[in-house]
Amino acid sequence: MEQLDSKEEARQAVAQARRDRKTVALVPTMGALHEGHLSLTRGARKRADIVAVSVFVNPTQFGAAEDVAAYPRDLERDLELLDAEGVDIVFTPTAETMYAADASTTVDPGPLGTVLEGAARPGHFGGVATIVAKLFAMFMPDLALFGEKDYQQLLVIRRLARDLDFPVMIVGSPTVRELDGLAMSSRNAYLSPEQRAVAPVLYRALSEAVRKAEHGQASVAVLEAAMAEALACEPSVEPSYAVVRDAVTLDPLERLEEGRPARALVAAQVGTARLIDNVTVTLAGRGA
Ligand code: PAJ
Repeated sequence: MEQLDSKEEARQAVAQARRDRKTVALVPTMGALHEGHLSLTRGARKRADIVAVSVFVNPTQFGAAEDVAAYPRDLERDLELLDAEGVDIVFTPTAETMYAADASTTVDPGPLGTVLEGAARPGHFGGVATIVAKLFAMFMPDLALFGEKDYQQLLVIRRLARDLDFPVMIVGSPTVRELDGLAMSSRNAYLSPEQRAVAPVLYRALSEAVRKAEHGQASVAVLEAAMAEALACEPSVEPSYAVVRDAVTLDPLERLEEGRPARALVAAQVGTARLIDNVTVTLAGRGA
């Protein structure tokens, strides 16, 4: 495995792969790797000749109230894990390498970046879209993999690639969960044992909406009320939203409809950690 920390080295490594007629897959991460991240590198390994992983805690996607310095970091362990997965290139730039001191050009994802997580974290998706556009420009990957765990981020990036004509196939990958249903996240490291014990309520709430829809409940108001009720079982969990939305636009829906994919999404504060999760919701016996 090659560890690179300059843009020039990254470009050269990709240019060499191209000369060798090899396909390149990129997996962007912020490190503190877990099985969720590794499922992306395994998906990349299956699909491409060269697997590149970036490990960069991107300061521009953190809000003023969020502490980028406190984000978990363990580069040595990350490198061991990636090496064991057969990753070819790991890109570990510094913030100074990634951003010119007076960088002023950014990517604005538009309305999709201002709802749900974007409403709670103003500027977050602009920061994500900008860094991902820069990584795409540097690596020119044939494909890039992102987790459904961050569903709105996946939608923002699909749209970024389409709207700005990046010739990269965006592959969404299923959420990897702990045995009790909690979605794996680097942020779970912030949870105390007591908080960790109540955190699976997010997935229970989502599962409740799925169960009701599978029993034929099409009213989104009823599904959202069921999720709110499930979340209320844990008073130490402060819900931010628990909604069912159009799976492509995230527009509000009144009723589930055949042929219109829907997604249930929740976010909640548990201690100092903001946790998010989501699942697909399908009306009984119809659609996929
Ligand atoms: P990070 O939170 O490190 O996540 C990197 C990738 O791993 C994202 O595509 C995310 O959706 C995926 N991922 C995280 N937890 C997962 C899980 N439990 N199951 C499946 N996939 C999971 O997301 C970011 O970093 C950043 O915003 C980034 C895209 C790298 C831009 O800075």
